[in-house]
Amino acid sequence: MRSSRTSLRAGLAALVAAVGLFAAGTGTARAADTPLRDLAAAKGKVLGTAVTGSKLTGTYGDITGTQFSAVTPGNAMKWESVEPARGSFNWTEADQIVAFAQAHDQQVRGHTLVWHSQNPGWLTDGSWTSAQLSDLLRSHIDTEVGRYKGRIAAWDVVNEPFNEDGTYRSTLWHDGLGPGYIADALTWAHAADPDADLYINDYNVEGVNAKSTALYNLVKSLKQQGVPIDGVGLQAHLILGQVPSTLQQNIQRFADLGVDVAITELDVRMQLPADSAELAQQEADFKSVVAACAAVARCVNVTVWGFTDSDSWVPGTFPGYGAATPYDEDYRPKPAYYGIAEALGGGGTTPPPTGACTAAYTVTSQWNTGFTGQVRISCSGASLSSWKVNWTYGAGQRITQAWNATCTQSGTAVSCANASYNGSVPDGGSVTFGFNASWSGTNPVPAVTLG
Ligand code: XIL
Repeated sequence: MRSSRTSLRAGLAALVAAVGLFAAGTGTARAADTPLRDLAAAKGKVLGTAVTGSKLTGTYGDITGTQFSAVTPGNAMKWESVEPARGSFNWTEADQIVAFAQAHDQQVRGHTLVWHSQNPGWLTDGSWTSAQLSDLLRSHIDTEVGRYKGRIAAWDVVNEPFNEDGTYRSTLWHDGLGPGYIADALTWAHAADPDADLYINDYNVEGVNAKSTALYNLVKSLKQQGVPIDGVGLQAHLILGQVPSTLQQNIQRFADLGVDVAITELDVRMQLPADSAELAQQEADFKSVVAACAAVARCVNVTVWGFTDSDSWVPGTFPGYGAATPYDEDYRPKPAYYGIAEALGGGGTTPPPTGACTAAYTVTSQWNTGFTGQVRISCSGASLSSWKVNWTYGAGQRITQAWNATCTQSGTAVSCANASYNGSVPDGGSVTFGFNASWSGTNPVPAVTLG
């Protein structure tokens, strides 16, 4: 286990370095950065990301495994995912994520057991007595928490129970069972897995306000009644430049109640297209959220809600907004990535260079003997009329086929030049080519140069 992690991390170091620079580049290539999970561990924190199970191969899987020490299934453990028809269960994606986490020495945050959203139609469309509803909820919790007993560090047992003014949200559960559903759900979850930490999770509770104060009062009263509650999750779906000034104070007041705090769904959205000033503001925002958590001993985990802009819920949910995560769509770390690193004590990081063309290499899928790769050449503040991308395969990989470029391989040296129709890369534009290749043993991402 130890050695496989070491080699995974070595692979990541290569991946972070796998951006070639060309043209008016004023920046210098970065030294391989310490993985965020290691920086977090040195501060006694866990750093997580929400994930999509089907994407956990290639570069997405490499980054997930090497940079993060926890994963949260973005959707796979929600009721509609695990029991789409009554009594008919589908654990495929949830199992896959839990297995991935175990293989990469990561925690899993289970998300989520009791919520008003993403419930199956058979449940929401049914008409139930309160006794039936209570039985359904208990059995859902028994089944799901029981299945993963011992493998889930923390459960978001109850999600989003409050309105903005601090009153209880009217939901299937609240309206059918009364507010006691929260204590019941926690008690049932504790019975099903006594070792899991049990959380209540909500949004717009990051700063001190009416909603977070209602949550505070609830947690206080649950503790007084001896209900098993271990933590509070602050989702932190934030808007650029709007990190609440009372974030750390709010985390501290929950900690002082004797519960842990986690930032469970961090993202910072902005209006598209993103410019460099906005990305710099986003770096500051990520940094201040992580720093607030780092400053409070009982703030145990910061989880980003998707680590790459290509796997974020924001564009689909907030039209016109996006770019909300620490990596761009091609898995290149954005300034926000360095904001997280800086807040965790990572030294010597500088923002990515501007005024350059770069080439980014990603493994988009991988199987036993082969893989598909992609290289994207992007220009910002510069342009190209032709290009050539070079790299060295140190682990015996061999290109078998390429498209949208002419690739030659001689020994370990690979060189790919533009096709007749895609040599030109305008300022602000990009060109992509792809290839298939063989591999065995390991498939580290090479450093690429653009010339
Ligand atoms: C989101 C997922 O990311 C989307 O893929 C899905 O379509 C909707 O739900 N608060 C939560 C998360 O607790 O479960 C939500 O996740 C985002 C808001």
